[in-house]
Amino acid sequence: MTRPVACIIGAGSGIGRATAEVLHREGYDLILADLSTEGLEPLRIAFNAQVAALDIADRHALGLFANGLPEIDALVLTAGLSPSMGSFERILAVNLTATAAAVELLRQRLRAEGAAILISSMTAHTAPVEDPRIAALLDQPEKPDLAARLSELIGPEAALPGMAYALSKAGILRMARRFATPFGRQGHRICSISPGCIDTPMGRLEMGRSETSRNALKAAPIPRSGTSEEVSEAIAFLVSRRASYITGCDLQVDGGWVGASLADPPGSSLKSAVALARLKD
Ligand SMILES: NC(=O)c1ccc[n+]([C@@H]2O[C@H](COP(=O)([O-])OP(=O)(O)OC[C@H]3O[C@@H](n4cnc5c(N)ncnc54)[C@H](O)[C@@H]3O)[C@@H](O)[C@H]2O)c1
Repeated sequence: MTRPVACIIGAGSGIGRATAEVLHREGYDLILADLSTEGLEPLRIAFNAQVAALDIADRHALGLFANGLPEIDALVLTAGLSPSMGSFERILAVNLTATAAAVELLRQRLRAEGAAILISSMTAHTAPVEDPRIAALLDQPEKPDLAARLSELIGPEAALPGMAYALSKAGILRMARRFATPFGRQGHRICSISPGCIDTPMGRLEMGRSETSRNALKAAPIPRSGTSEEVSEAIAFLVSRRASYITGCDLQVDGGWVGASLADPPGSSLKSAVALARLKD
């Protein structure tokens, strides 16, 4: 029997790396990509993984990568930037526009019954997308001047990296739902995962910058950071046949943060921490 193949982009660190470890344990052959191969090298050696340097925001490189890809059973896109890692424009370009392009190109390599997993965030669940014009823009991530158009709608003073992060991840939530039907027609599934505060280099960077988030974490139903393994176990479940009737939806792996904050009164510490994250410059 041929072994299943998983392609993970953003596998050099954090959740992507943990997903490589879990899927290797589950019997997958691995094709791993990240901005550089440095973080992938230990995985290449340990798991005999195929590795590649790839910037998903580089459309030409993405096309070449897609052309060289064999048929795959699982596609996991974890590459992303947090609010401290880029400008309003760059975060939207990587987290939303490039992810959408990667889904479009790489889904063509999925075998029957294959699945794709996108990574959203708990911040997406309370992002300000009530205005249908904002939602419409998030649903057309390839539109030129996306950042400028969004900035016009939310007001230039709100066009901060934290807001770009929340909007880009809200776009990812919507993408998994929007793509469910075209995926389904091909016999494929697509889901998103919304991690909470996860103990990865990115998670530590953001928590280190926000006392509000650190305090709010203590009020979450599970009052600690999650591990990248806890997220990757959920990813491994969703790409597996055990999840064969699950598509077009999001799984929150956040220690209950979003659920509790939605139930909380306005001004509660959980709600405020998520809202304040958008004001990061
Ligand atoms: N850690 C958290 O607390 C948390 C919470 C919510 C959502 N997330 C999301 O989970 C995903 C993974 O985050 P993580 O915590 O593992 O972060 P991380 O920084 O540890 O890993 C992200 C990886 O993505 C790669 N990457 C970034 N830009 C890329 C690009 N343009 N092309 C290719 N690779 C690129 C980085 O080099 C890095 O190896 C991200 O999308 C992030 O937004 C993380």
